[in-house]
Amino acid sequence: MSAQVFVPGDSGAVSVGASEVAGAIALEAERRALAVKIVRNGSRGAYAFEPMVEAATADGRIAYGPVAPADVPGLFDAGFLDGGAHRLRIGVAERIAFLAAQNRLTFARAGVVDPLSIDDYIAHGGFRALARAREIGPARVVEAIKASGLRGRGGAGFPAGIKWETARGAAADRKFIVCNADEGDSGTFADRMILEGDPFALIEAMAIAAAAIGASYGYIYIRSEYPDACRVMNAALAAARAREFLGRDFDLEIRVGAGSYVCGEETAMLESIEGRRGMVRHKPPVPAISGLFGKPTLVHNVVTLASVPAIIERGADYYRALGTASSAGTVPFQLAGNVKRPGLVELPLGATLRELIVGIGEGTASGRPIRAIQIGGPLGAYLPAAQLDLALDYETMQGAGGILGHGGIVVFDDTVDMARMARFAMEFCALESCGKCTPCRIGSVRGVEVIERIIARRDARANLMLLRDLCDTMANGSLCALGGLAPLPVLSAIRHFPEDFALTTREIADLI
Ligand SMILES: Cc1cc2nc3c(=O)[nH]c(=O)nc-3n(C[C@H](O)[C@H](O)[C@H](O)COP(=O)(O)O)c2cc1C
Ligand code: SF4
Repeated sequence: MSAQVFVPGDSGAVSVGASEVAGAIALEAERRALAVKIVRNGSRGAYAFEPMVEAATADGRIAYGPVAPADVPGLFDAGFLDGGAHRLRIGVAERIAFLAAQNRLTFARAGVVDPLSIDDYIAHGGFRALARAREIGPARVVEAIKASGLRGRGGAGFPAGIKWETARGAAADRKFIVCNADEGDSGTFADRMILEGDPFALIEAMAIAAAAIGASYGYIYIRSEYPDACRVMNAALAAARAREFLGRDFDLEIRVGAGSYVCGEETAMLESIEGRRGMVRHKPPVPAISGLFGKPTLVHNVVTLASVPAIIERGADYYRALGTASSAGTVPFQLAGNVKRPGLVELPLGATLRELIVGIGEGTASGRPIRAIQIGGPLGAYLPAAQLDLALDYETMQGAGGILGHGGIVVFDDTVDMARMARFAMEFCALESCGKCTPCRIGSVRGVEVIERIIARRDARANLMLLRDLCDTMANGSLCALGGLAPLPVLSAIRHFPEDFALTTREIADLI
């Protein structure tokens, strides 16, 4: 029998040399005439240890990392195939502190299974939820999603059950389901990890959702910067079709994104799928009533959908009991930026920033004090280290003037220049604006100029007032959240870090 070794094919791991390590293991095994089967799993998300190699042993999967090709002969000498001692040995994978501290539910299989093996997926509980959904029928599936308290993980946090109920209730000859895998937020990678590491979970979830609302066709809109995710997902679709999980009453296809942040906004994405430029549509009607090609369309983020099988299988009450009263379930937080242990951290909503960044992430990579944390992508607020005890849930984040967004957490140490970050946030809006409405298209360009004048201390007081008014106009007069939320990072940077703008706290208190 051949020994089994896992080397992630996840593009994060590949970017730090996982494929070279897999090649070196294959070569060394051949040289030593050892039968070794290499499985290219997804990543478990403990990125500080990637490339993380795991050997299947009688004591479980023993992890080693980060492994370089040059380490491979030494690993063989140390008997790593049987879990032998080596300076890179981290121990049983699930017991690594970074992973043991988590509550892996949606990401239970990521990094564990062979993403391209449907049998492995089934062996790890796959397609049980689909069978259960067929057993209980569409109405009870929708009830379960409503009762679970699941909210959209793409950014807006809208209750999923309401969308399902609306789409199910809409009368039409055709309905669609669209998975938003555009994942444009800075510091985020949860969608990619599902697409590359557990693709059948998304297929299963979309099949459950399609049956629940009566859709016969679906699209997965994957950002163009994710070619590996497209490849894995396409292979998984073909495998699911071959086993008739797809292709009878429901089928799916992939659409590659158009390379613009705003194409992740759901109506711009629908425009893009229909073959037009990604421009935001007016709402109402909401997509659940009139979406793709004017038909009722259920649009969800990858993580929202990937949360569905566990809800159907374990029950709405189980899911609802995780998290807080109005922020139910778990969120795969994506810890990035200046942090010692970056990666995917799935925790119940309500965990604190300190637990996440200091506890699991072990503070900054530079060893310097944490100064700022941006939560929720490029439109999220910058919070100061003094707010590390805030809970990560929808309400608390809103109360703190921020958003949870897609769960991206970017950490900065005390060398960050927050004036530059504020300018960058406004410039991001100017660059990515779809141009449909004036406050966003022109306001963001003028906003960059005003911030530059404030930084240069030219009429700082008058320009601060101007910026505040401009931000009010953008927040209240923009059609979508790109223009509407761009003021959040800008004003939070000024409010919490006035010294970087050479402003006194008094000036800020009066003006912002
Ligand atoms: C400018 C902009 C970009 C967005 N980008 C994404 C994205 O990349 N992925 C995503 O799932 N949602 C994105 N959204 C949110 C979507 O419009 C929508 O709320 C989401 O896809 C709905 O899925 P959910 O209910 O599962 O969150 C974006 C919104 C805006 C305003
Ligand atoms: S806010 Fe900006 S991105 Fe959104 S519709 Fe208006 S111009 Fe387009």
